[in-house]
Amino acid sequence: MANLCIQQCLIVVLVVLGSLTTPSDCFHRDHDHHPKTTAALFTFGDSVFDPGNNNYINTTVDFQANFPPYGESFFKYPSGAFSDGRVIPDFIAQYANLPFLQPYLQIGSQYQLAYGTNFASGGAGALAETFPGFVIDLKKQLWYFNEAEKKLRSNLGNRRAERVVSNAVYLFCIGGNDYSTDSTNSSIFKSSTPEDYVAMVVGNITTVLKEIYKKGGRKFAVMNVPAIGCIPAFRALNVAAGGNGECEEEYVALPKLHNVLLSRELEQLQKQLKGFKYSYFDFFTVLNETIDNPSKFGLKEAKTGCCGGGPYRGDHSCGGKTAIKEYELCDNPQDYLFFDSTHPTQAANEQFAKLMWSGPTKLTGPYNVKSLFQLSY
Ligand SMILES: *[C@@H]1O[C@H](CO)[C@@H](O)[C@H](O)[C@H]1NC(C)=O
Ligand SMILES: *[C@@H]1O[C@H](CO)[C@@H](O)[C@H](O)[C@H]1NC(C)=O
Ligand SMILES: *[C@@H]1O[C@H](CO)[C@@H](O)[C@H](O)[C@H]1NC(C)=O
Ligand SMILES: *[C@@H]1O[C@H](CO)[C@@H](O)[C@H](O)[C@H]1NC(C)=O
Repeated sequence: MANLCIQQCLIVVLVVLGSLTTPSDCFHRDHDHHPKTTAALFTFGDSVFDPGNNNYINTTVDFQANFPPYGESFFKYPSGAFSDGRVIPDFIAQYANLPFLQPYLQIGSQYQLAYGTNFASGGAGALAETFPGFVIDLKKQLWYFNEAEKKLRSNLGNRRAERVVSNAVYLFCIGGNDYSTDSTNSSIFKSSTPEDYVAMVVGNITTVLKEIYKKGGRKFAVMNVPAIGCIPAFRALNVAAGGNGECEEEYVALPKLHNVLLSRELEQLQKQLKGFKYSYFDFFTVLNETIDNPSKFGLKEAKTGCCGGGPYRGDHSCGGKTAIKEYELCDNPQDYLFFDSTHPTQAANEQFAKLMWSGPTKLTGPYNVKSLFQLSY
Protein backbone atom coordinates (compact mmCIF):
# COMPACT_ATOMS: atom_id res chain seq x y z
CA MET A 1 0.00 0.00 0.00
CA ALA A 2 2.57 2.53 1.14
CA ASN A 3 4.79 1.64 -1.78
CA LEU A 4 2.00 2.06 -4.26
CA CYS A 5 1.08 5.36 -2.68
CA ILE A 6 4.60 6.72 -2.89
CA GLN A 7 4.97 5.56 -6.46
CA GLN A 8 1.75 7.22 -7.44
CA CYS A 9 2.76 10.50 -5.87
CA LEU A 10 6.09 10.40 -7.62
CA ILE A 11 4.43 9.74 -10.93
CA VAL A 12 1.90 12.48 -10.35
CA VAL A 13 4.67 14.92 -9.46
CA LEU A 14 6.64 13.94 -12.54
CA VAL A 15 3.63 14.12 -14.78
CA VAL A 16 1.86 17.28 -13.83
CA LEU A 17 4.82 19.27 -12.48
CA GLY A 18 2.95 22.07 -10.84
CA SER A 19 -0.10 21.98 -13.07
CA LEU A 20 -3.66 20.90 -12.31
CA THR A 21 -3.47 19.16 -8.93
CA THR A 22 -1.23 18.79 -5.96
CA PRO A 23 -1.01 15.21 -4.80
CA SER A 24 -1.87 15.99 -1.20
CA ASP A 25 -3.96 12.85 -0.87
CA CYS A 26 -2.51 9.95 -2.81
CA PHE A 27 -5.79 8.26 -3.40
CA HIS A 28 -8.02 11.28 -3.73
CA ARG A 29 -10.74 10.69 -6.29
CA ASP A 30 -13.35 13.02 -7.67
CA HIS A 31 -16.23 10.61 -7.23
CA ASP A 32 -19.08 13.06 -7.34
CA HIS A 33 -21.78 10.44 -7.36
CA HIS A 34 -20.35 7.36 -5.70
CA PRO A 35 -17.82 8.43 -3.13
CA LYS A 36 -17.35 4.87 -1.83
CA THR A 37 -16.71 3.25 -5.20
CA THR A 38 -13.25 2.08 -6.10
CA ALA A 39 -13.01 1.23 -9.77
CA ALA A 40 -9.92 -0.80 -10.61
CA LEU A 41 -8.32 -1.17 -14.06
CA PHE A 42 -7.39 -4.60 -15.44
CA THR A 43 -5.54 -4.42 -18.77
CA PHE A 44 -5.18 -7.16 -21.40
CA GLY A 45 -3.49 -7.02 -24.77
CA ASP A 46 -0.39 -6.75 -26.89
CA SER A 47 2.66 -4.48 -27.15
CA VAL A 48 0.54 -1.34 -27.46
CA PHE A 49 -0.45 -1.92 -23.79
CA ASP A 50 2.48 -4.00 -22.41
CA PRO A 51 4.26 -2.09 -19.61
CA GLY A 52 7.00 -4.73 -19.35
CA ASN A 53 5.47 -8.18 -18.78
CA ASN A 54 7.73 -9.63 -21.47
CA ASN A 55 10.74 -8.80 -19.28
CA TYR A 56 9.66 -11.78 -17.19
CA ILE A 57 9.04 -14.48 -19.79
CA ASN A 58 11.39 -16.67 -21.75
CA THR A 59 11.26 -14.98 -25.13
CA THR A 60 13.63 -13.25 -27.56
CA VAL A 61 14.65 -9.60 -28.02
CA ASP A 62 12.19 -9.46 -30.93
CA PHE A 63 9.42 -9.43 -28.32
CA GLN A 64 11.12 -7.17 -25.79
CA ALA A 65 11.83 -3.48 -25.34
CA ASN A 66 13.96 -3.56 -22.20
CA PHE A 67 16.97 -1.85 -23.73
CA PRO A 68 17.74 1.76 -24.69
CA PRO A 69 16.41 3.97 -26.20
CA TYR A 70 13.01 2.57 -25.11
CA GLY A 71 11.69 4.51 -22.13
CA GLU A 72 14.07 7.46 -22.69
CA SER A 73 11.43 10.22 -22.64
CA PHE A 74 9.83 9.39 -19.32
CA PHE A 75 11.23 6.63 -17.17
CA LYS A 76 14.84 7.44 -18.11
CA TYR A 77 15.43 3.70 -18.24
CA PRO A 78 14.05 0.95 -20.50
CA SER A 79 11.06 -0.25 -18.47
CA GLY A 80 10.11 -2.84 -21.05
CA ALA A 81 7.22 -0.80 -22.47
CA PHE A 82 7.28 -0.61 -26.28
CA SER A 83 7.53 3.17 -26.47
CA ASP A 84 9.78 6.06 -25.49
CA GLY A 85 7.62 6.39 -22.37
CA ARG A 86 4.21 5.55 -21.06
CA VAL A 87 1.62 3.38 -22.78
CA ILE A 88 -2.12 4.06 -23.04
CA PRO A 89 -3.18 2.20 -19.84
CA ASP A 90 -0.68 4.31 -17.84
CA PHE A 91 -2.58 7.44 -18.89
CA ILE A 92 -6.00 5.87 -18.31
CA ALA A 93 -4.92 4.89 -14.77
CA GLN A 94 -3.76 8.46 -14.18
CA TYR A 95 -7.05 9.98 -15.41
CA ALA A 96 -8.93 7.56 -13.14
CA ASN A 97 -6.83 8.67 -10.14
CA LEU A 98 -5.40 5.19 -9.80
CA PRO A 99 -1.81 4.49 -8.83
CA PHE A 100 0.66 3.56 -11.53
CA LEU A 101 -0.15 -0.05 -12.40
CA GLN A 102 2.87 -2.35 -12.66
CA PRO A 103 3.17 -5.34 -14.99
CA TYR A 104 1.44 -8.32 -13.36
CA LEU A 105 4.46 -10.56 -13.85
CA GLN A 106 6.60 -8.02 -12.02
CA ILE A 107 4.43 -7.60 -8.95
CA GLY A 108 3.10 -11.15 -8.96
CA SER A 109 0.03 -11.82 -6.92
CA GLN A 110 1.49 -10.68 -3.59
CA TYR A 111 -0.01 -7.19 -4.01
CA GLN A 112 -3.60 -6.81 -2.97
CA LEU A 113 -4.46 -5.84 -6.57
CA ALA A 114 -7.42 -3.73 -5.47
CA TYR A 115 -6.52 -1.05 -8.06
CA GLY A 116 -6.04 -3.61 -10.84
CA THR A 117 -2.97 -4.61 -12.82
CA ASN A 118 -1.76 -5.10 -16.38
CA PHE A 119 -1.47 -8.51 -18.09
CA ALA A 120 -0.60 -7.32 -21.65
CA SER A 121 2.27 -8.91 -23.55
CA GLY A 122 4.12 -7.71 -26.64
CA GLY A 123 3.44 -9.96 -29.64
CA ALA A 124 0.32 -11.48 -28.08
CA GLY A 125 -2.68 -12.32 -30.18
CA ALA A 126 -6.18 -13.59 -29.53
CA LEU A 127 -5.18 -16.90 -31.14
CA ALA A 128 -2.86 -19.39 -29.46
CA GLU A 129 -1.22 -19.81 -32.92
CA THR A 130 0.09 -16.22 -32.92
CA PHE A 131 3.80 -16.24 -31.97
CA PRO A 132 3.34 -19.38 -29.86
CA GLY A 133 5.95 -19.85 -27.15
CA PHE A 134 7.18 -16.25 -27.34
CA VAL A 135 4.27 -14.35 -25.82
CA ILE A 136 1.54 -14.48 -23.18
CA ASP A 137 -1.47 -15.09 -25.40
CA LEU A 138 -4.93 -13.82 -24.49
CA LYS A 139 -6.04 -17.11 -22.97
CA LYS A 140 -3.00 -17.16 -20.69
CA GLN A 141 -3.69 -13.54 -19.74
CA LEU A 142 -7.18 -14.66 -18.69
CA TRP A 143 -5.56 -17.45 -16.66
CA TYR A 144 -3.47 -14.82 -14.84
CA PHE A 145 -6.60 -12.75 -14.24
CA ASN A 146 -8.27 -15.77 -12.65
CA GLU A 147 -5.23 -16.20 -10.43
CA ALA A 148 -5.39 -12.50 -9.50
CA GLU A 149 -9.11 -12.77 -8.73
CA LYS A 150 -8.48 -15.65 -6.30
CA LYS A 151 -5.76 -13.63 -4.67
CA LEU A 152 -8.12 -10.66 -4.34
CA ARG A 153 -10.62 -12.87 -2.53
CA SER A 154 -8.03 -14.08 -0.06
CA ASN A 155 -6.67 -10.54 0.46
CA LEU A 156 -9.93 -8.62 0.77
CA GLY A 157 -12.54 -11.23 1.57
CA ASN A 158 -15.24 -12.35 -0.85
CA ARG A 159 -17.58 -9.38 -0.56
CA ARG A 160 -15.00 -6.68 -1.13
CA ALA A 161 -13.30 -8.71 -3.86
CA GLU A 162 -16.60 -9.09 -5.69
CA ARG A 163 -17.14 -5.33 -5.55
CA VAL A 164 -13.67 -4.73 -6.99
CA VAL A 165 -14.35 -7.17 -9.85
CA SER A 166 -17.82 -5.80 -10.70
CA ASN A 167 -16.74 -2.14 -10.58
CA ALA A 168 -13.47 -2.64 -12.44
CA VAL A 169 -12.89 -1.56 -16.03
CA TYR A 170 -11.44 -4.29 -18.30
CA LEU A 171 -9.33 -2.70 -21.02
CA PHE A 172 -8.38 -4.61 -24.20
CA CYS A 173 -6.07 -4.02 -27.15
CA ILE A 174 -5.69 -7.29 -29.00
CA GLY A 175 -5.89 -8.62 -32.56
CA GLY A 176 -3.20 -6.67 -34.43
CA ASN A 177 -0.67 -9.51 -34.13
CA ASP A 178 -3.21 -12.03 -35.42
CA TYR A 179 -2.93 -10.14 -38.73
CA SER A 180 0.87 -9.79 -38.79
CA THR A 181 2.83 -11.15 -41.77
CA ASP A 182 3.85 -14.15 -39.67
CA SER A 183 0.22 -14.86 -38.83
CA THR A 184 -0.98 -14.54 -42.42
CA ASN A 185 1.81 -16.97 -43.36
CA SER A 186 0.58 -19.56 -40.85
CA SER A 187 -1.16 -22.81 -41.77
CA ILE A 188 -4.28 -21.83 -39.80
CA PHE A 189 -4.61 -18.63 -41.87
CA LYS A 190 -3.92 -20.40 -45.15
CA SER A 191 -6.45 -23.13 -44.45
CA SER A 192 -9.28 -20.63 -43.71
CA THR A 193 -11.06 -17.94 -45.68
CA PRO A 194 -10.24 -14.43 -44.40
CA GLU A 195 -13.83 -14.23 -43.05
CA ASP A 196 -13.49 -17.49 -41.10
CA TYR A 197 -10.09 -16.53 -39.75
CA VAL A 198 -11.36 -13.14 -38.57
CA ALA A 199 -14.36 -14.88 -36.97
CA MET A 200 -11.94 -17.09 -35.02
CA VAL A 201 -9.94 -14.09 -33.80
CA VAL A 202 -13.05 -12.18 -32.74
CA GLY A 203 -14.58 -15.39 -31.31
CA ASN A 204 -11.57 -15.84 -29.04
CA ILE A 205 -11.86 -12.23 -27.85
CA THR A 206 -15.57 -12.54 -27.06
CA THR A 207 -14.91 -15.83 -25.24
CA VAL A 208 -12.56 -14.00 -22.88
CA LEU A 209 -15.04 -11.14 -22.37
CA LYS A 210 -17.72 -13.68 -21.45
CA GLU A 211 -15.40 -15.47 -19.02
CA ILE A 212 -14.67 -12.21 -17.23
CA TYR A 213 -18.39 -11.43 -17.18
CA LYS A 214 -18.98 -14.83 -15.52
CA LYS A 215 -16.50 -13.85 -12.81
CA GLY A 216 -18.54 -10.68 -12.23
CA GLY A 217 -16.88 -8.20 -14.61
CA ARG A 218 -19.32 -5.69 -16.16
CA LYS A 219 -17.41 -2.79 -17.73
CA PHE A 220 -15.36 -3.46 -20.86
CA ALA A 221 -13.31 -1.06 -22.97
CA VAL A 222 -12.12 -2.60 -26.23
CA MET A 223 -9.97 -1.02 -28.94
CA ASN A 224 -10.51 -2.10 -32.51
CA VAL A 225 -7.58 -2.97 -34.80
CA PRO A 226 -6.02 -0.08 -36.75
CA ALA A 227 -4.83 -0.25 -40.36
CA ILE A 228 -1.60 -2.05 -39.48
CA GLY A 229 -0.75 -1.89 -43.19
CA CYS A 230 0.02 1.82 -42.66
CA ILE A 231 2.64 1.48 -39.89
CA PRO A 232 6.30 2.10 -40.84
CA ALA A 233 7.09 -1.66 -40.95
CA PHE A 234 4.49 -2.20 -43.69
CA ARG A 235 5.45 0.93 -45.65
CA ALA A 236 8.97 -0.52 -45.72
CA LEU A 237 7.59 -3.82 -47.05
CA ASN A 238 5.69 -1.86 -49.68
CA VAL A 239 8.96 -0.19 -50.75
CA ALA A 240 10.75 -3.56 -50.79
CA ALA A 241 8.01 -4.86 -53.12
CA GLY A 242 8.58 -1.94 -55.52
CA GLY A 243 5.93 0.47 -54.18
CA ASN A 244 6.24 4.07 -53.02
CA GLY A 245 5.67 3.41 -49.34
CA GLU A 246 1.90 3.29 -49.54
CA CYS A 247 -0.20 1.36 -47.03
CA GLU A 248 -0.22 -2.40 -47.66
CA GLU A 249 -3.86 -2.90 -48.60
CA GLU A 250 -4.31 -6.52 -47.43
CA TYR A 251 -3.33 -5.35 -43.94
CA VAL A 252 -5.91 -2.58 -44.09
CA ALA A 253 -8.65 -4.91 -45.34
CA LEU A 254 -8.19 -7.55 -42.59
CA PRO A 255 -8.54 -5.03 -39.74
CA LYS A 256 -11.64 -3.59 -41.47
CA LEU A 257 -13.26 -7.04 -41.52
CA HIS A 258 -12.22 -7.60 -37.91
CA ASN A 259 -13.74 -4.32 -36.77
CA VAL A 260 -17.12 -4.88 -38.41
CA LEU A 261 -17.42 -8.22 -36.65
CA LEU A 262 -16.03 -7.01 -33.32
CA SER A 263 -18.46 -4.09 -33.05
CA ARG A 264 -21.36 -6.36 -33.97
CA GLU A 265 -20.34 -8.93 -31.31
CA LEU A 266 -20.09 -6.25 -28.63
CA GLU A 267 -23.63 -5.07 -29.43
CA GLN A 268 -24.81 -8.66 -29.14
CA LEU A 269 -23.11 -9.14 -25.78
CA GLN A 270 -24.79 -6.03 -24.42
CA LYS A 271 -28.16 -7.46 -25.50
CA GLN A 272 -27.47 -10.95 -24.15
CA LEU A 273 -25.67 -10.26 -20.87
CA LYS A 274 -27.49 -8.33 -18.18
CA GLY A 275 -25.44 -5.36 -16.94
CA PHE A 276 -22.72 -5.74 -19.61
CA LYS A 277 -21.52 -2.23 -20.55
CA TYR A 278 -18.82 -1.37 -23.04
CA SER A 279 -16.74 1.23 -24.76
CA TYR A 280 -15.62 0.48 -28.32
CA PHE A 281 -12.67 2.66 -29.25
CA ASP A 282 -12.42 3.22 -33.00
CA PHE A 283 -8.63 3.13 -33.14
CA PHE A 284 -8.84 2.45 -36.89
CA THR A 285 -10.42 5.85 -37.58
CA VAL A 286 -8.28 7.66 -35.01
CA LEU A 287 -5.01 6.29 -36.44
CA ASN A 288 -6.15 6.99 -39.99
CA GLU A 289 -6.94 10.61 -39.06
CA THR A 290 -3.65 10.99 -37.22
CA ILE A 291 -1.73 9.78 -40.27
CA ASP A 292 -3.65 12.07 -42.61
CA ASN A 293 -3.53 15.09 -40.31
CA PRO A 294 -0.87 14.74 -37.58
CA SER A 295 -0.96 18.41 -36.57
CA LYS A 296 -4.55 17.97 -35.39
CA PHE A 297 -3.04 15.71 -32.71
CA GLY A 298 -0.06 17.93 -31.92
CA LEU A 299 2.31 15.76 -34.00
CA LYS A 300 4.46 16.46 -37.06
CA GLU A 301 5.56 13.12 -38.54
CA ALA A 302 3.12 10.24 -38.93
CA LYS A 303 4.70 8.01 -41.59
CA THR A 304 8.35 7.58 -40.59
CA GLY A 305 9.21 6.18 -37.17
CA CYS A 306 11.56 7.91 -34.73
CA CYS A 307 13.80 4.90 -34.16
CA GLY A 308 14.81 2.20 -36.64
CA GLY A 309 16.49 1.70 -39.99
CA GLY A 310 15.67 1.51 -43.68
CA PRO A 311 12.80 3.21 -45.51
CA TYR A 312 10.41 4.93 -43.06
CA ARG A 313 12.65 3.52 -40.30
CA GLY A 314 10.47 0.49 -40.79
CA ASP A 315 13.15 -2.08 -39.88
CA HIS A 316 12.59 -3.62 -36.48
CA SER A 317 16.07 -2.57 -35.34
CA CYS A 318 15.51 0.19 -32.76
CA GLY A 319 18.19 -0.25 -30.11
CA GLY A 320 20.37 -2.47 -32.30
CA LYS A 321 19.60 -5.67 -30.38
CA THR A 322 17.74 -7.59 -33.08
CA ALA A 323 19.17 -9.17 -36.25
CA ILE A 324 19.72 -5.73 -37.85
CA LYS A 325 22.21 -3.68 -35.80
CA GLU A 326 22.09 -0.30 -37.59
CA TYR A 327 19.44 2.15 -36.61
CA GLU A 328 18.74 5.88 -36.45
CA LEU A 329 17.11 7.75 -33.59
CA CYS A 330 15.30 11.07 -33.87
CA ASP A 331 15.88 13.67 -31.19
CA ASN A 332 12.25 14.86 -31.00
CA PRO A 333 10.07 11.78 -30.38
CA GLN A 334 7.31 14.08 -29.11
CA ASP A 335 6.74 15.12 -32.76
CA TYR A 336 6.33 11.55 -34.04
CA LEU A 337 3.35 9.21 -34.19
CA PHE A 338 5.55 6.10 -34.20
CA PHE A 339 8.52 5.56 -31.93
CA ASP A 340 9.81 2.45 -33.72
CA SER A 341 8.69 0.45 -36.76
CA THR A 342 5.45 -0.53 -35.07
CA HIS A 343 4.65 1.27 -31.80
CA PRO A 344 3.28 4.72 -30.97
CA THR A 345 5.32 7.30 -29.08
CA GLN A 346 4.30 8.40 -25.62
CA ALA A 347 3.01 11.65 -27.17
CA ALA A 348 0.68 9.69 -29.47
CA ASN A 349 -0.35 7.33 -26.66
CA GLU A 350 -1.41 10.33 -24.60
CA GLN A 351 -3.60 11.64 -27.43
CA PHE A 352 -5.21 8.20 -27.88
CA ALA A 353 -5.77 7.82 -24.13
CA LYS A 354 -7.47 11.23 -23.95
CA LEU A 355 -9.86 10.23 -26.74
CA MET A 356 -10.62 6.86 -25.11
CA TRP A 357 -11.20 8.56 -21.80
CA SER A 358 -13.56 11.36 -22.80
CA GLY A 359 -13.83 11.36 -26.58
CA PRO A 360 -17.12 11.61 -28.49
CA THR A 361 -19.48 8.62 -28.76
CA LYS A 362 -18.70 8.07 -32.44
CA LEU A 363 -15.06 7.33 -31.56
CA THR A 364 -15.52 5.75 -28.14
CA GLY A 365 -18.99 4.50 -27.42
CA PRO A 366 -21.65 3.81 -26.35
CA TYR A 367 -19.74 4.68 -23.15
CA ASN A 368 -16.41 6.44 -23.06
CA VAL A 369 -13.93 5.10 -20.53
CA LYS A 370 -14.56 7.94 -18.10
CA SER A 371 -18.28 7.16 -17.99
CA LEU A 372 -17.50 3.44 -17.51
CA PHE A 373 -15.42 4.33 -14.46
CA GLN A 374 -18.34 6.37 -13.11
CA LEU A 375 -20.85 3.51 -13.36
CA SER A 376 -21.43 1.83 -10.04
CA TYR A 377 -22.22 -1.85 -9.51
C1 LIG B 1 14.19 -20.52 -22.66
O1 LIG B 1 14.15 -20.85 -24.04
C2 LIG B 1 15.35 -21.39 -24.54
C3 LIG B 1 15.24 -21.50 -26.05
O2 LIG B 1 13.95 -21.93 -26.43
C4 LIG B 1 15.62 -22.70 -23.83
O3 LIG B 1 16.85 -23.27 -24.30
C5 LIG B 1 15.71 -22.46 -22.31
O4 LIG B 1 15.85 -23.69 -21.63
C6 LIG B 1 14.46 -21.75 -21.82
N1 LIG B 1 14.63 -21.38 -20.43
C7 LIG B 1 13.69 -21.53 -19.51
C8 LIG B 1 14.01 -21.05 -18.14
O5 LIG B 1 12.61 -22.05 -19.76
C1 LIG C 1 6.32 -18.34 -44.62
O1 LIG C 1 6.49 -19.63 -44.05
C2 LIG C 1 7.41 -20.45 -44.71
C3 LIG C 1 7.34 -21.84 -44.10
O2 LIG C 1 7.26 -21.77 -42.70
C4 LIG C 1 8.79 -19.81 -44.64
O3 LIG C 1 9.75 -20.61 -45.31
C5 LIG C 1 8.73 -18.43 -45.28
O4 LIG C 1 9.97 -17.77 -45.14
C6 LIG C 1 7.64 -17.60 -44.63
N1 LIG C 1 7.47 -16.36 -45.38
C7 LIG C 1 7.39 -15.19 -44.78
C8 LIG C 1 7.18 -14.02 -45.67
O5 LIG C 1 7.45 -15.04 -43.56
C1 LIG D 1 -10.40 -19.76 -30.99
O1 LIG D 1 -9.25 -20.04 -31.74
C2 LIG D 1 -9.07 -21.40 -32.01
C3 LIG D 1 -7.72 -21.50 -32.73
O2 LIG D 1 -6.73 -21.10 -31.82
C4 LIG D 1 -10.21 -21.94 -32.85
O3 LIG D 1 -10.05 -23.31 -33.08
C5 LIG D 1 -11.51 -21.70 -32.08
O4 LIG D 1 -12.61 -22.07 -32.89
C6 LIG D 1 -11.65 -20.23 -31.74
N1 LIG D 1 -12.83 -20.03 -30.88
C7 LIG D 1 -13.89 -19.35 -31.27
C8 LIG D 1 -15.00 -19.24 -30.28
O5 LIG D 1 -13.98 -18.84 -32.38
C1 LIG E 1 -8.02 7.23 -44.28
O1 LIG E 1 -9.31 7.05 -44.79
C2 LIG E 1 -9.56 7.79 -45.98
C3 LIG E 1 -11.02 7.58 -46.33
O2 LIG E 1 -11.33 6.21 -46.39
C4 LIG E 1 -8.62 7.35 -47.09
O3 LIG E 1 -8.84 8.10 -48.24
C5 LIG E 1 -7.21 7.54 -46.61
O4 LIG E 1 -6.31 7.04 -47.56
C6 LIG E 1 -6.99 6.81 -45.29
N1 LIG E 1 -5.67 7.11 -44.80
C7 LIG E 1 -4.84 6.15 -44.46
C8 LIG E 1 -3.53 6.60 -43.94
O5 LIG E 1 -5.13 4.99 -44.53
